[in-house]
Amino acid sequence: MRVQFTVAIDGPAAAGKGTISKAVAQHFGFAHLDTGLLYRAVGLKVLNGADPTQAARALTPGDLTGGDLRTPDVAQAASRVAILPEVRQALVDFQRSFARGPGGAVLDGRDIGTVICPEADVKLYVTASDEVRAHRRWKELTGKGIDVTEAEVLDEMRIRDSRDAGRDLAPMRAAADAVLLDTSALSIDAATAQAIAAIQAGLPA
Ligand code: C5P
Repeated sequence: MRVQFTVAIDGPAAAGKGTISKAVAQHFGFAHLDTGLLYRAVGLKVLNGADPTQAARALTPGDLTGGDLRTPDVAQAASRVAILPEVRQALVDFQRSFARGPGGAVLDGRDIGTVICPEADVKLYVTASDEVRAHRRWKELTGKGIDVTEAEVLDEMRIRDSRDAGRDLAPMRAAADAVLLDTSALSIDAATAQAIAAIQAGLPA
């Protein structure tokens, strides 16, 4: 296997990209970076009173762990700071050097195939219907004891998606050469199998 191999996985919230990314990284023995955690970590610091740009510049790997990053409030705060050019710029180098690390790397987010790693070897864009995504995220959140209705989750998701897709800088969108994977009617195993097949097809013979 070549020393560097980059897989870019983008798509809206709760489409399944996190689950698929982890599974394919494990399958191929690649490192995995959930880039949403970077924006969530900045968002959490801002909710706690920090300046967004300073928080992004001072981010450490230790900031990326902890269950409090997964709440709907932090998700909204993440998508608000993600509009800011200085914040995005401060996070570029970390993501690119992760992608260039030894062995293969899977990065998932919103702009990996378009902005962070436009030269990625394989690009996937994972989607699902709004209702399916909201149901999945609602189950995940209530499973963690977060008290929220499915309608609230759907609302929160739509607000976030339209902010992410509508921003000027690095908007959420599929790269022209991305393989589209709609997981609405797929089990996790079936979606993962399709992602593995797409990556396998991009690996050097
Ligand atoms: O993927 P996740 O839902 O954790 O991302 C949280 C927020 O971070 C997104 O709604 C988006 O605003 C932002 N984000 C981004 N670019 C990425 C990853 C996440 O703008 N590559």
